[in-house]
Amino acid sequence: MPGTAIIGLQWGDEAKGKIVDLLTEQNEIVVRYQGGANAGHTVVANGKKFKLSLIPSGIFRPKVQCLIAGGVVLDPASILKEIDGLVKQGIKIDRNLMISDRAHVIFPWHKIADRMFNNIGNDEPIGTTMRGIGPCYEDKVGRALAIRVGDLYKPGFKNQIEHIAGVKNQLFLGLTNHFDHTMRISGWDIELEAESIYKEYSGYAEQLRPYVTDTTNYLLDAVDADKRILFEGAQGSLLDIDHGTFPYVTSSNSSGVGISGGSGVPPHFLKKIVGIVKAYTTRVGGGPCPTEQNNEIGQQIRDRGNEYGTVTKRPRRCGWFDAVAVRYSARLSGVDVISVMLLDVLSGIDSLKICTGYEIEGQQVTHFPSQIDDLRKAVPIYETLPGWKEEITGITKYNDLPENAKRYIKRIAELIGKPVEIVSVGPDRLQTIIF
Ligand code: GDP
Ligand code: IMO
Ligand code: MG
Repeated sequence: MPGTAIIGLQWGDEAKGKIVDLLTEQNEIVVRYQGGANAGHTVVANGKKFKLSLIPSGIFRPKVQCLIAGGVVLDPASILKEIDGLVKQGIKIDRNLMISDRAHVIFPWHKIADRMFNNIGNDEPIGTTMRGIGPCYEDKVGRALAIRVGDLYKPGFKNQIEHIAGVKNQLFLGLTNHFDHTMRISGWDIELEAESIYKEYSGYAEQLRPYVTDTTNYLLDAVDADKRILFEGAQGSLLDIDHGTFPYVTSSNSSGVGISGGSGVPPHFLKKIVGIVKAYTTRVGGGPCPTEQNNEIGQQIRDRGNEYGTVTKRPRRCGWFDAVAVRYSARLSGVDVISVMLLDVLSGIDSLKICTGYEIEGQQVTHFPSQIDDLRKAVPIYETLPGWKEEITGITKYNDLPENAKRYIKRIAELIGKPVEIVSVGPDRLQTIIF
């Protein structure tokens, strides 16, 4: 199976990291191809918990090559801290990590802009992770003010920093004058100092030098050699910049459509796409989430599932499984099979609801709306299924699951229209039922 991809089908945090780690055993290369340090992927192996943000979740298997491809936006300080933390935990990181010289670099001005624009333009803030992701992708597309990893090693790097810091200072000053004091947040008045940014980033560049390479050509060679490659999606399909719940999305193609663009590997190389879903719904940040349960049930799910952001620690908004949203994202991402995660969190809830349609202004619909205003108005139509009381965290065979848990899984598969191949009943590698 040369090309396999792991794609989140909801609003992120579907437990992609756990499945990537699990499937890495059967692969030679693991690739992160979009997003950046906004991602927080958790792997629990041999009783130890690891949190990854930029580094692919294949890093725990020393023979596996881990790639950060050109579609990623790279925060050098963040990745160096991550490398340091993993090395201290005994993980080998040297030639097994590669960083694309095409990846765009996140600078302090991107983080300032992320904070500035979060509160402007929308009644409800986007609620970004404040990692500078959106502003860095803006500069990438704009080109004139962009710096890629490869640029860090060129003689013109200092001039580039001076020029861009000068332009950004003028932009920020203009904005500061434009908005009255009540709109400003702390940090608006920061003056970017080109010299110190240059020194700081030159230091990062030296530390990162051993990892930097042309990952696109490396991957094209790997494709020719029929190597087994696993693509690790970050965020979830409903946060996709083009096909998600715009503007409450991230700034990259986080659905299946982004794999080829971000990695440089042609689409036909992909042979299997595994869609990852939680057995319920979570969302962190702003934007509509029709099945959200702002009540005791939501809190119960949050408590049992420990639903607090891996990156920002924000409480995640929790609710019932939304089959309208997931059917859409599974089709969008070209999913072949489904992995249902965190099923154990639902144990003990008397009856479980699944959203099978929406009512929007009196009309019943089963498609996922393209316009945010329509999604805001969507009232879920629910189907109710009986729950189960038993703890299931120790179960390793599908047949040993309580009948009602099997019924719940079967119904999810029916509604999405794809078979379920993996069910997860706990965070550990071993707490996994593979069909
Ligand atoms: P990702 O961003 O998609 O990789 O997901 P996160 O790591 O942000 O969030 C998933 C969380 O669920 C992590 O804390 C995992 O350790 C945890 N987890 C994964 N699978 C299971 C499961 O089956 N049951 C429970 N209770 N927790 C799980
Ligand atoms: P993983 O890979 C959940 C959300 C943010 C915000 C929106 C835009 O761990 O699943 P951004 O900083 O990207 O501009 O924020 O997207 N978001 C995520 N939510 N999981 C993630 O990653 C996310 N990455 C971004 O909360 O609503
Ligand atoms: Mg996460």
